[in-house]
Order: sequence, then structure tokens, then C-alpha cells
Amino acid sequence: MKIKSLLKKIAQALGVYHSIRNRLKAYRDKRELREWRELGKPVPPPHMVKQRAILKYAREFKCEALVETGTYLGDMVAAMIEDFQTIHTIELDTALFHSARKRFKNRPNVLLYHGDSGVVINDVLSVIGESPGRVVFWLDGHYSGGITATSKCPLVEEVRTILTRRPHDVILIDDVHCFGVAKDYPTVQSIEEMVVGLSPGAKLQVEDNILRIFPTL
Ligand SMILES: C[S@@+](CC[C@H](N)C(=O)[O-])C[C@H]1O[C@@H](n2cnc3c(N)ncnc32)[C@H](O)[C@@H]1O
Repeated sequence: MKIKSLLKKIAQALGVYHSIRNRLKAYRDKRELREWRELGKPVPPPHMVKQRAILKYAREFKCEALVETGTYLGDMVAAMIEDFQTIHTIELDTALFHSARKRFKNRPNVLLYHGDSGVVINDVLSVIGESPGRVVFWLDGHYSGGITATSKCPLVEEVRTILTRRPHDVILIDDVHCFGVAKDYPTVQSIEEMVVGLSPGAKLQVEDNILRIFPTL
């Protein structure tokens, strides 16, 4: 038996496996963040930066639900699971959708949707209904190599639908470096024009490769 799996078995037997694993992960995340800052914050930022951005707005605007487009392996859902009453997440790829469903099968507050987020976002908003609690939208559904689904960039439909139905929520859009460059991606200016038309009081900011649209408090 390899040393690594032997140590894992011993830690499991002693009931300390999860706490050791979580500490190691926290240590690796911290180191990755420090190295990223030292390198001058290159694109893309570590996942932890994205998690922190979501939590910052969730706390500031007292958001109760998170809507994510592009579930992928479910790592953002897992990172946010204790911080929201409900998480809605949409994935286009069938295999990724089924594996996320398996991963979160015992978490009733995680609602998984299968399909193109440019369309399915409407169903998610119908499930959320007229709920007064604010929502953070994490828009991250796009082809990203390997096993991920290819699709026409759904951002314009997503942002238009969200702003029309819930103009006072928070929208965070990942991968600003793709705007106006990658196929089908809108420019930041075209998103800004849509925001001005549909949610006149809202503010826009770009930081750490994330476009942030949020209401004035
Ligand atoms: C960058 S990954 C998402 C990472 C994840 N949000 C996280 O933070 O851990 C993008 C995902 O979007 C999915 N995707 C691509 N086009 C999509 C679309 N139109 N609707 C929903 N998901 C889509 C891909 O299959 C892929 O799993």
C-alpha cells in the first residue's frame, strides 16, 4: 500500500481525516493567493478570489440565494453551500450535470438545472418568484476547454433577463478578459448600455477579471 493511502486510512480511523484535509486545502489556497498577488494578479485569478467576491456582495447586500451559470464540477457550489439558503446552478453538459447531481444529492438547498443558461435562467427566476430576498448571480457558463460544453455565449440573454425581472439584485460576471475578444462575447460597453436602460441606478465595476453590477444601497 502506498504511503499516501496508508496515511489516509490512519487519519480516517482516527476521525481526523476531514479536518486535516480542510487545513491542507486552506493552506494551499492561501499560498496560491499570495503567489498570485506577488505575480501582479495575472488573469485568471485563483478560484478563492472569485469565492471572496461572491461572499463580499452577498454580505453587503444580504443576499439569500446564489444563482450560478456553468456548474462544471460543482466546486463553487461546494464552496458556497453554507453561506446561502438556496443555490441554483445551471449546466449545459449532460455528464457534468449528472455528476453534480450525484455530488449534491443529499443537499436539498442545491437546485440543479440542465440546459443552456441563456434560456434556463428564465426557469430559475420563476422558481425564485417574487421573493423579496436579494440574489447574487454568478455568470460563468461558457466553454472552458476539456470536457466542458460548447455554446453560443449566453451572457446577453442572461443579463437582459435578470435585469428585466430582478433589477435590484447583484450580477457578477467572470472572465472580463474575454469581453469583446472571444467569439460571441459582448463588450463591457454593451453590457453597460443594457444596465443603464434596464436598471438606471445600478453601478458597474471591474475588478480581478470580474464585472460587478450592483444596486445603490
Ligand atoms: C468555467 S466553467 C464553470 C466553473 C464554475 N462556475 C466554478 O466556479 O467552479 C464553465 C461551465 O459552463 C458550462 N457551459 C458552457 N456553456 C453553457 C451554457 N450555455 N449554459 C450553461 N452552462 C454552460 C461548461 O460546460 C462548463 O462546465
